[in-house]
Amino acid sequence: MKLSKKDFLSIRDLSRKELDVVLDLCAKQKPLAKQFHLEQTHPGRVLACIFHKPSLRTRLSFEIAMRQLGGSSLFITEAEIKIGSREATKDVAKVLSRYVNGIMIRTFEQQLVEELARYADVPVINGLTDLLHPCQVLGDIFTAIEKLGGIDGKKVVFIGDGNNVARSWLNAAARFDFKFVLAAPEGYQIEDSFVDAVMKDGSPDYEWIPDARRAVRDADVVYTDVWTSMGQEGEKEKRLKAFAGYRVDDDIMKLASASSIFMHCLPAHRGDEVTDSVIDGPHSVVFDEAENRLHIQRAIIALLVRGE
Ligand code: CP
Ligand code: NVA
Repeated sequence: MKLSKKDFLSIRDLSRKELDVVLDLCAKQKPLAKQFHLEQTHPGRVLACIFHKPSLRTRLSFEIAMRQLGGSSLFITEAEIKIGSREATKDVAKVLSRYVNGIMIRTFEQQLVEELARYADVPVINGLTDLLHPCQVLGDIFTAIEKLGGIDGKKVVFIGDGNNVARSWLNAAARFDFKFVLAAPEGYQIEDSFVDAVMKDGSPDYEWIPDARRAVRDADVVYTDVWTSMGQEGEKEKRLKAFAGYRVDDDIMKLASASSIFMHCLPAHRGDEVTDSVIDGPHSVVFDEAENRLHIQRAIIALLVRGE
C-alpha cells in the first residue's frame, strides 16, 4: 500500500488506516532485520539527512535504516547548505530532489520543513522541529503496543513540558483511541491554538491537568521528556523552577497502574525530570523505545521512498 501523502511531517498527515500500515510493516520487518534477513528493497537510493540540532538516535537510526534497505545516507549540517540564507529553501529542495530519493530534516521551525516538502519532488520526513517529533511518537506507539498489547483504551500521561513530543502525542490521540493527559504547570501546557486545531481533526480524549499526582492515577504509560529542549538553553534556570514538582520518581510511579510502563524519548537529564530509580527501574522501557526508532523509521522510509 502507498501512503496518501508524499511526506511525513506530522502524525496527523496519516489516517488511522495508514498509521496501522506503518506499524504492521514495522512489526513484520523488525524480526527480519534482527536476523539480517531483511530484503534490500532500496539499492542505490540515498536519503539526505539535514541536522540543525544535535542527535544520537535520530541520526543513527535513519542512517542504519537506509543501509539495511540497501541504500545509503548523507549527513548534512547547517554549515554546508545554510538553507534560507545562502540559498532559498525552494532552490535547495529542487536541487536535492535531483540528487537524492528522500530528505530527512531536524530543525527549529516546522514552517521550514513544510516549505522544503512543498518544493521537493522527493519525500520529506520530519526528524524533529520545535513544534513536533512525529517519528519519535510513532515509534513510541509501536513500543507501547509491544509492551501493553495495544494502545487503544489505554491512558497515556505525559508529565512535563507541553513540547514537540507532547504535541505529537496529542496528534496521535486524534488518530488512536487512547486517553491523553498532560501534567504541565500553567504556562507550559500545549497552546490553545494547537489543541483547537487537533480537536477539529479527530476527537482526541485529551485533558490538561496541572496536578501531576492527580493526572498520573491509573496511567498505563507514564511519559516524560527534558524540561529544557534543544534551543531553549537560555531558559534553563527558569524552567528548573517551573517544573519542580514534576519529576517522575517512585512515588509518582506508585500512583500509576501496577503494570504501567515508563517512557522517555531520550536524551534524559537524570535527576531533573526523572530519577535514576525510575529510568533504570522495572517499569522503564526507554531502551526499547530507542531501538524501535530504527524499526519504525525503516518502515516509514520503505513506504515513502521509492524503492524497487
Ligand atoms: N529521541 C531523539 O530524537 O533522540 P536524538 O535527539 O538523540 O535524535
Ligand atoms: N523535547 C526534546 C526532544 C529531544 C529528542 C528536544 O526538542 O530537545
